[in-house]
Formats: sequence, C-alpha cells, structure tokens
Amino acid sequence: MELDWEQRYQALNTPWDKGEPTPVLLEFLSNHPLSGKILVVGCGYGHDVRALAKHGGQVVGVDFAPSAIALAQSLPPIANETYLLADIFHLPKELHSSFDWVWEHTCFCAIDPQKRSHYVEAVAVALKPDGKLLAIFFLNPPNLENGPPYGVTVGELDQLFAKQFTLLREWQPKSAYPGREGREEMRLMQKN
Ligand SMILES: C[S@@+](CC[C@H](N)C(=O)[O-])C[C@H]1O[C@@H](n2cnc3c(N)ncnc32)[C@H](O)[C@@H]1O
Repeated sequence: MELDWEQRYQALNTPWDKGEPTPVLLEFLSNHPLSGKILVVGCGYGHDVRALAKHGGQVVGVDFAPSAIALAQSLPPIANETYLLADIFHLPKELHSSFDWVWEHTCFCAIDPQKRSHYVEAVAVALKPDGKLLAIFFLNPPNLENGPPYGVTVGELDQLFAKQFTLLREWQPKSAYPGREGREEMRLMQKN
C-alpha cells in the first residue's frame, strides 16, 4: 500500500526530515554552484530548495503533500525560490522542458518501485534539452523489504535511465546522514 505522505506530515511523523539541507548537496554546491532554473522533486519542507536558492538558482520545490508545501511557503524567502503543490507525475504543462537542473533527494526512493519508469519520464519532461539531473540515490536502506525508502541497485539505475539520460559522473559522497554512510550514490546525468 502506498504511504499517505500528507497524513504523515499532519501527524508530524516525518523521520526523513532532518531540519537542514542534505549534506551531500552542500558538499556539491561548495565546488559547483548550480545556476539557472532548478526543480526540486518531492521537496518536503524545502530545506534543499532554500540551500539552492542561497547559491543563486531560480528554484521551484514541488511536493504533493499540502502540509509540507504550506510550511515551506510560510518560511521567510531566501532569494529566488517558489513552491508548488503538485504531483511530479502530472506537472503543469508550463513547467515542461523548462528546467536546467533537477535535484533529487529521497523522492525516487519514496516512490513505488513499479512507478520508476514514470519517475524517469517525469524528470525528462521537466528538463530542457541537455538539462541535468543531479541525484543522490539510496541504494541500500535498512529494512529493505518494507519501503519506503525502497532501495535500488546500480544496475537498475543504469537500465532505468539509459534511454533518456547520459551518465556524466557517478561517485560516493563524502558526507552522509548518520546511518546512510556507504549506502548512497551520487549521479550526474544529462538528458539526451
Ligand atoms: C522521504 S520524503 C523526502 C522529503 C524531502 N526531500 C526531504 O529530504 O526532507 C519524500 C517526499 O516526496 C513527496 N512525494 C512522494 N511522491 C510524490 C509525487 N508523486 N509527487 C510529488 N511529491 C511526492 C512526499 O510528499 C514527501 O514529501
């Protein structure tokens, strides 16, 4: 059964929320500030949205949980960031082909593995031609059988994205939340 994300936000039962931007994103931004239009999929309370905006991007955070978006919108703006209540599988047409970057952190692993090809399609639809997906994938979460988070193998990632994306770089991040060390992989991919 799919998790009711809105219910979890309403109950303040959000163990995934660490109250700060993703350490690997900050690690990446310190050497490679992203510019242009950036989409953050499954942005939750928007910590990564605000970190990206601080580094100069024009950032849109999207999530389909109204309580997450409401909280994100209630925070003082950092720079050029906005939030949108929407399902990433049904992004409004005006957002199609409009992003230079998509940032992924714990949205892919939150989605039913049966829908992964739809996820790849949704990201490709949002990106401009040659746009890039920067992603951290949770390969091997604890409690693998009962996601979310759902794990994924490197081979599955290769297969899933091969048709629509070119893998530019993959690496093990230096920073990680406690408990996730060595369980994650960063990927930089470009839309074909
Ligand atoms: C594990 S949480 C991670 C939230 C945020 N990235 C963070 O690190 O705090 C997964 C998020 O993805 C959102 N989500 C899941 N499926 C979605 C979909 N189809 N469209 C938009 N948001 C979705 C959930 O509402 C939830 O906020």
